[in-house]
Amino acid sequence: MEEKQQQRSRHLPFRKSAGCAVILSPHTHSLYTSYTSFSFFYYSSPLLSYINSLDPFLLLLLDSIRSIAMASLISLSITSPVATSPKIGFGKKGGDLLLKKKKNMKASGRVSMAVAVNVSRFEGVTMAPPDPILGVSEAFKADTNDMKLNLGVGAYRTEELQPYVLNVVKKAENLMLEKGDNKEYLPIEGLAAFNKVTAELLLGADNAVIQQGRIATVQGLSGTGSLRLAAAFIQRYFPDAKVLISSPTWGNHKNIFNDARVPWSEYRYYDPRTVGLDFDGMVADIKAAPDGSFVLLHGCAHNPTGIDPTPDQWEKIADVIQEKNHIPFFDVAYQGFASGSLDEDASSVRLFVSRGMELLVAQSYSKNLGLYAERIGAINVVCSSSDAATRVKSQLKRIARPMYSNPPVHGARIVANVVGDATLFNEWKEEMELMAGRIKTVRQRLFDSLSQKDDSGKDWSFVLKQIGMFSYTGLNKSQSDNMTNKWHIYMTKDGRISLAGLSLAKCEYLADAIIDSFHNVS
Ligand SMILES: Cc1ncc(COP(=O)(O)O)c(C=O)c1O
Repeated sequence: MEEKQQQRSRHLPFRKSAGCAVILSPHTHSLYTSYTSFSFFYYSSPLLSYINSLDPFLLLLLDSIRSIAMASLISLSITSPVATSPKIGFGKKGGDLLLKKKKNMKASGRVSMAVAVNVSRFEGVTMAPPDPILGVSEAFKADTNDMKLNLGVGAYRTEELQPYVLNVVKKAENLMLEKGDNKEYLPIEGLAAFNKVTAELLLGADNAVIQQGRIATVQGLSGTGSLRLAAAFIQRYFPDAKVLISSPTWGNHKNIFNDARVPWSEYRYYDPRTVGLDFDGMVADIKAAPDGSFVLLHGCAHNPTGIDPTPDQWEKIADVIQEKNHIPFFDVAYQGFASGSLDEDASSVRLFVSRGMELLVAQSYSKNLGLYAERIGAINVVCSSSDAATRVKSQLKRIARPMYSNPPVHGARIVANVVGDATLFNEWKEEMELMAGRIKTVRQRLFDSLSQKDDSGKDWSFVLKQIGMFSYTGLNKSQSDNMTNKWHIYMTKDGRISLAGLSLAKCEYLADAIIDSFHNVS
């Protein structure tokens, strides 16, 4: 009977409640301690971010092993020979651990120890790795070195390296205050005045697509939210299609499609030998994809490489996409920020539209209007008929409603006021040219410093060929680590630096760091 009881206790099921009691041996206790120490080491050491930077699947695998180890530990119930003192206890009664001799235990020298473990119901929730881009800013904040430089996040800074609120934004906000705009809910599709001007800004007000009502525009939660909405739409209406994304791409693209359960694969984009575009590889991969795939293209200022196709290459990309019956899906997060001209930066999208193609475009006003935290953007679907556009819009709204109900109004009003008012619109264009101009000046100064200081004969001209906020330096992970650990320069581990976070005064320092990392770290 007692034997049976003991056997049963060996398999005491793990009750899903905090503070459940399990039978554990001292051996198990030491295992538990080891587990805790391992977890502490695992999560607090740079190992986690290192593994994550290598391969997210490896991280997932390790996390699963850790969870299985924990589950086995909890269910372990071992009795083992220990001294038979009537009470063996440590820890607070009812606290973490309580060991006591079982009643009616035979003097066999074997005791079971009842251990009350405060196990959270969320024990199975594993630690998420830090975000590879936003995590950089957190590490930067913690650094106390005077020379530190944050080139991780793509946010525009002044020459004094301070955040910048555009003057037109302040003016638009003043207008809103004067008018006494209310804070009522917006419709699901967003502010009508915003949706109108955002489509016009993208395609040009006189574009036939707009005149014919062939575009479905829905206000989104900036670029990310708009991409996510489109991903959910693809998942619902094109469940067999996959999305082709460039290799490399902005880190969040993969997360967005993964979360929306949309399969994706990569097409070649960056050629490390030339630090330029692998155009032939790109075209070959787009050609090889199943007909009717979605092809995600960066409208301008490709992130992270800063390498854009030439107008001629865009034509050829459009040819192959048309030939394969693919659906182009543009991500336009930097309109105006690449060249300084809103029209020039929209030329890739306009080219595809002029060919009569149906396509998707996600827009963001984070960078070009500096509205990062306002979360303002849009998803546009250009259709071949106004009827299709009406239906598509109704479905986008249907997806948005249970996700976030309706979008925020503040940023939408700013955009509507700026783009919809001729005076403010012209002022915005001037300010944007200034911002884009500052980045170009810094780019030139960095190139000059690199060329003057480095006597190895290395060709640094790729820095000048790249466009937009970023430069893809070609530095590998160890070299990028050296930039941070030795030089206090924070950047993403793929070698990307944001020139929008660099001042002219710091160009020489950055050049020294790049040259050192490139030549002295393998
Ligand atoms: C290529 C690309 N797409 C989309 C976004 C979305 O940004 P947000 O959600 O802030 O508009 C970014 C931001 O860095 C980006 O680089």
